[in-house]
Amino acid sequence: MIIGVPREIKEAENRVSVTPACVAEYIQHGHQVLIEKTAGRGSRISDEEYIQAGAHLVATAAEVWKRSEMVIKVKEPIEPEFPLIKEGQIIFTFLHLAADYTLTRTLIDKKVIAVAYETVQLQDGSLPILKPMSEIAGKLSVQFGAQALETIHGGRGVLLGGASQAAPALVVILGGGTAGWNACAVALGMGARVYLLDIKRDLLEKARQTFKERFTAFASDRDTIETAAREADLLIGTVLIPGARAPRLVSRAMVSTMKKGAVIVDVSVDQGGCIETSRPTTHTNPFYIEEGVVHCCITNFPGTVPLTSTCALAKASLPFGLELADKGIEKAVTENSAIAKGVNIFRGRASCRQVCEAFGLKCELL
Ligand SMILES: NC(=O)c1ccc[n+]([C@@H]2O[C@H](COP(=O)([O-])OP(=O)(O)OC[C@H]3O[C@@H](n4cnc5c(N)ncnc54)[C@H](O)[C@@H]3O)[C@@H](O)[C@H]2O)c1
Repeated sequence: MIIGVPREIKEAENRVSVTPACVAEYIQHGHQVLIEKTAGRGSRISDEEYIQAGAHLVATAAEVWKRSEMVIKVKEPIEPEFPLIKEGQIIFTFLHLAADYTLTRTLIDKKVIAVAYETVQLQDGSLPILKPMSEIAGKLSVQFGAQALETIHGGRGVLLGGASQAAPALVVILGGGTAGWNACAVALGMGARVYLLDIKRDLLEKARQTFKERFTAFASDRDTIETAAREADLLIGTVLIPGARAPRLVSRAMVSTMKKGAVIVDVSVDQGGCIETSRPTTHTNPFYIEEGVVHCCITNFPGTVPLTSTCALAKASLPFGLELADKGIEKAVTENSAIAKGVNIFRGRASCRQVCEAFGLKCELL
């Protein structure tokens, strides 16, 4: 199969979807890999390293898209890329379609096979390609939150860990999955108090056994969220229902009751956000203030630490990419239910139930 890797063009997106080691694997399996010139630059991978691994360097993104049977990316295609998409092509990348009707419609109309990293799901319910990125985003959410709490960014001027005779800040985390768990560990490590809210009893119990000092776990319901939001210095949203638009757990009215200068970091923003006042922000312009609360809703947190993220993402996606390339889409979805769950659009048909529900589309499951 001919596999194409374009350079990411989303703002401050420094990741690249494959490393030279991945290229070598694809080639060993008999495939051809086209890499757009400078695709690895943001991750400090030179064109030379890709060539040494056996890739063909290609001058433009247009050529990559035109010649490839499968395009492997990091982030969802954005508007300048839409005209390059080719009918029948496999696009393997993060897509977050339930939060993006325009992209969903485009991929349906283009009759591609769109395999979303974030819905590739193993039988135990885990999300093997999303997981490393959620770990990173969870950890970064606390770093960004701590920064936003500084007065210079409009924050309350609170240090997460407090000081002798000054109480630590309260961090409230909605969702205790991969991102939430990692945010919790970092926030506690920085000396904050943490409330973790989730709907899974076993997860809450495990969290109580793991994190002790300055930590409280709560079952997530409307009243608890309302009270916790009022008390929070930093509120971090990390809830997920795989494939679906994020549930809106915090209303504008709740945000308006938060302390002035408190901070919201909505990690779930890529799935539409779990806070009513969230809207996507970028690494160059990460913060805005609404209802007196500083918001940070970056849709690609891991893009800012590409040396860590590229390595982790490329490793996580490689086994599935290889299976798609080795078997072709039909055989791969028949033999691997995790890949079948990843398929959101299949040759002009929407095939992910949650995406169909988000937009009232007819669903044709694979
Ligand atoms: N912005 C970014 O750069 C970035 C990067 C990586 C991941 N993400 C996003 O972070 C989000 C979390 O990903 P994850 O891998 O941690 O997911 P996960 O599935 O591991 O965890 C989600 C958790 O949310 C909980 N949850 C669901 N409904 C809830 C509710 N009503 N109240 C409280 N908890 C609830 C689930 O029980 C689960 O534990 C996703 O939207 C993902 O796309 C964003």
